[in-house]
Amino acid sequence: MILKIIKYPNKILISPSQRVKVLDEKIKKLILDMTETMSVNKGCGLAAPQVGINLRLAVVDLAGQLITLINPEIVKTSKETEVMEEGCLSLPEVEAKVKRLTWVEVKYLNAEGKEINFKAEGILARIIQHEVDHLNGKLILDRINFFTRYKLIKKLTKTI
Ligand code: NI
Repeated sequence: MILKIIKYPNKILISPSQRVKVLDEKIKKLILDMTETMSVNKGCGLAAPQVGINLRLAVVDLAGQLITLINPEIVKTSKETEVMEEGCLSLPEVEAKVKRLTWVEVKYLNAEGKEINFKAEGILARIIQHEVDHLNGKLILDRINFFTRYKLIKKLTKTI
């Protein structure tokens, strides 16, 4: 089922999400629906708050490789950062240069409920940080300077 994507300035996007307690059929269905929704919208990541559910769950599509992140936690990070253009399905037509950590070690449960711990680098490290931000109620807009933020919010609210 394709879900409706929640867009800025909906409050769900700025609310912190709760941990997933049980990986039951309802959550499994949500994972499937989120994956389908990400795919039809040509996104490379989608977090549960973006479909109106404040749960710590996100799906990632890394060049066709699907990753489900349940209760992801960043446990170790690089000191170095890098800047790259980023977009977000909840912020239509917005692209902004965002500074992110070069690599992150992330701990999460996968779609089978297995605990995974791995070091993500490059674009995957960036996507994971972006999705974990969503789970903490943070958007790209919170990662850029005041003037760029102002300019982008003006653009966003014009299209609503
Ligand atoms: Ni996003």
